[in-house]
Parts: sequence; structure tokens; C-alpha cells
Amino acid sequence: MQHRKGSYIAIFLFGISVAFTTISSTNGRKINNSKAYLPATENTILNSPSSEDTLPLLSIMTKLERDVNKISAGIWRHDFQMIKEGAKNIAHHPKIPPRQVKLIKAILGPDRFKNFVKTDQRVHQKAVEIAKMAEKKKLDVTTELFLEMERGCISCHVDHRNKVVSSDNW
Ligand code: HEC
Repeated sequence: MQHRKGSYIAIFLFGISVAFTTISSTNGRKINNSKAYLPATENTILNSPSSEDTLPLLSIMTKLERDVNKISAGIWRHDFQMIKEGAKNIAHHPKIPPRQVKLIKAILGPDRFKNFVKTDQRVHQKAVEIAKMAEKKKLDVTTELFLEMERGCISCHVDHRNKVVSSDNW
């Protein structure tokens, strides 16, 4: 467990340095919609070593909401293609700009920030599983995973969102 935590931190720091080098000229505000969704890797909201694409947190959230609605509509219609698209978009969403990552970390403090990252990873993982199960056209498992994913979204909002948005620095 300790070792895994160490790896996460190493990956995280590497991600930040890559992102900084790539976007420092634009002060972390680069928006590149043409590459918003990358092929599958271990992407999360926050960082991955392979990702250069960032978007302000609020824009990421608006996209997530749209894709959750897409999955939901797919479930009602038994439209597995629709479910898969929504889930893949969630799994490959852009990252928070390093500037905002630093700010969130400062606002939440190290322990809560760790939980923030973990919750993000949980949502990401569920989205990957939803896409897999939609591929197999398993509506029951897909729906169960969808509800678990939504619980992840909501738990981050309950635990962290107020603290972030009510900060004067946000
Ligand atoms: C790791 C934490 C975290 C996770 C996971 C998360 N959110 Fe959020 N969400 C936030 C924060 C923080 C804000 C406030 C952003 C702001 O106002 O700048 C937010 C705001 C939002 C908003 C409000 C946008 C607006 O217009 O005010 C929506 C919608 C949203 N999230 C949807 C989702 C959905 C859907 C998921 C899951 C697929 C999700 N979020 C997962 C942290 C999270």
C-alpha cells in the first residue's frame, strides 16, 4: 500500500512537470478541444504522464455531466453504443491545469487532497468498467456500475466541493 502510494505520487509529480512544461507559456489556461479526449491510458481528472490536455475544472465538470446524462439515456434505451461513448468520454476526460491542482491542494490540505485524488480515480475506474460491460451488452452490471460511479461523483461533491468553491482563492 505504501509502495502504491509512492508510485501514485511519483506519477502525479511527473504529470505536473510535463503539464507545466507544455502549457506554462499560456499560464495553464490552454484549451484544446480537438484533443479533449485521448486514447485510453491511466488518465484521471488530475494528471497522467502521457497527458498534455487540460481544461479548467468547471469545464471538465460540465462535460462529465453531459456524459453521465448520455450514459443514463443509453441505459433507458438499451443503447449500448451510447453508454459506451459516454463512459469512454468520462474515462478519458482532460486534466485540471496544474495551476488549479496546486490551488485545490492548498485549499484542501494534503490529507483531504489525497482523498480528492482517490475519489477521482474511483470515478475513472468505474467509467472504464462501464465501457467494458456496455461492450458486452450487460445491462444489469452496467447499470450497477453506473450507480457506483455516480456515488463517486457525489461523494467528492459532498466531501470537497463546498470547501473548494467557497475559498476566496478559487
Ligand atoms: C474529485 C472530486 C470530484 C469528482 C470525482 C467529481 N466532481 Fe463535479 N465538481 C467538483 C468540484 C470541486 C466542483 C466545483 C467546481 C467549480 O465550481 O469551480 C464540481 C462541480 C460540478 C458541477 C457543477 C458545474 C456548475 O456549472 O456549477 C457538475 C455538474 C459536476 N461537478 C458534475 C460531476 C459529475 C457528473 C461527476 C462524475 C462523473 C463529477 N462531477 C465528479 C469535484 C468533483
